[in-house]
Amino acid sequence: MDKSPRHERFRFGRFEVQPRERRLLADGTVTPITPRAFDLLVVLIERAGELVEKDELLDRVWSGLVVEESNLPVQVSTLRRLLGPRSIATVPGRGYRFMPEVAVTAAGEPAPAGNLPEPITPMVDSRGMVDRCVAALRATQLITLTGPGGVGKSRLLLETARACSDDYRDGAWAVDVSTAPDLPGLEQLVANVLCIADASRTGIATHVARRCMLLALDNCEHLVQDVADLADRLLRASPRLAVLASSRERLRVAGERLVYVAPLPVPEVESATPEALANVDSVRLFMSHAAAALPGFALTATNAAPIAHICRELEGLPLALVHAAPLVRAMSPLQIAEHLSDPLDFLKAADPTVAPHQRTLRASLDWSYEPLAPEERACLRRLACLPCAWTLEAALAALTGGAGNESDWVTLHGRLVEKSLVTFDSDTGRYRMLGLVRRHARERMDAGDAP
Ligand SMILES: Nc1ncnc2c1ncn2[C@@H]1O[C@H](COP(=O)(O)OP(=O)(O)OP(=O)(O)O)[C@@H](O)[C@H]1O
Ligand SMILES: [Mg+2]
Repeated sequence: MDKSPRHERFRFGRFEVQPRERRLLADGTVTPITPRAFDLLVVLIERAGELVEKDELLDRVWSGLVVEESNLPVQVSTLRRLLGPRSIATVPGRGYRFMPEVAVTAAGEPAPAGNLPEPITPMVDSRGMVDRCVAALRATQLITLTGPGGVGKSRLLLETARACSDDYRDGAWAVDVSTAPDLPGLEQLVANVLCIADASRTGIATHVARRCMLLALDNCEHLVQDVADLADRLLRASPRLAVLASSRERLRVAGERLVYVAPLPVPEVESATPEALANVDSVRLFMSHAAAALPGFALTATNAAPIAHICRELEGLPLALVHAAPLVRAMSPLQIAEHLSDPLDFLKAADPTVAPHQRTLRASLDWSYEPLAPEERACLRRLACLPCAWTLEAALAALTGGAGNESDWVTLHGRLVEKSLVTFDSDTGRYRMLGLVRRHARERMDAGDAP
């Protein structure tokens, strides 16, 4: 086919086709496609909505070659697999028609920079966390949002990136690090998102060095050291790069500023009126997801107390609230509240697109527990048997049992704070563990892990 450079870009749904660069992007990420399927896509897309006859397609895609007509449906199937089954209609005996509405960006017109997804549920933020993070990002090049699993770090990261994306001439780019298996996978992922051909660390550094951009590295905890090394290298390469990370554990990079994300506030008392409850963030989050699942669902004098109870039982943890709320389709809030004695498997994602590490509350807790070293797990399980808030002295008494090397236990205890499994209140000098983390650790002990 004609390979002369074209400067247009075609957009439809979540896809963008860049003929000159010979790239197909899905949600801003380069998607592998064979050269022949790509050529066919470009021909079809240029005539979107029109019937393109088989002969013309064979002529343009396999120009100068004599090929079997059966090659055409094979390539069409490949495109349907990539773009969706209804993207290309067959006109029997004649040819094919590209169905989605296509927007064309004219030559020279800048493509919108960045790949941030649009939010599909409302953000709840009466504490002003987004404003705080935007202000922090304007003052520092590297911010890490830390906190326990499911507390809302990723949500805050995307809202913050969106709120300040205009500050970055070359856009705000989000990378979900949880999908990268290792360091090469991480570099490839970042390169794909930024549309860089050279996926080496040097290639990425060269690309960002000339740009003013925000890189939002989401869900970094399982590759924390690799992300730290990459962020450090990129930040040293570019004075106008900002990195916003979300991770259950901080990166420990020079210049990193931490923003701790705490669970949402919960109602003080279960006897509060529906009007009073409606202003409490955890209730607002529960209600917005409940009303989305069951239109017309509202706070009433009857359901206010059980809803307050659910929010308190779930400790204002957004992931748990988001999993619990759609249950109103099949159960009353009172019945939901009664079943929260076993929340770890009971609370599951209603949405099948949710990341694997968030599909159940247990999966979210396992995501932190499984990578722990045996001695860290043992430390966590022993702490899970302490009363709800403890001092370091009380922890050491329980951990050492009056014997053993105290400084080793202090180190382990500190590592659990670093991994957001234990929180430290520097005002009171006390440590705490979310009830859900405690329950999970104790279950592991009951299941046979040594205390
Ligand atoms: N302030 C909020 N307003 C509205 N929805 C929220 C808020 N915080 C979190 N959520 C929702 O709660 C769920 C869990 O939040 P999120 O994925 O951001 O948690 P996380 O801290 O990143 O978890 P993980 O440690 O597993 O990555 C998501 O569906 C998210 O959209
Ligand atoms: Mg996250």
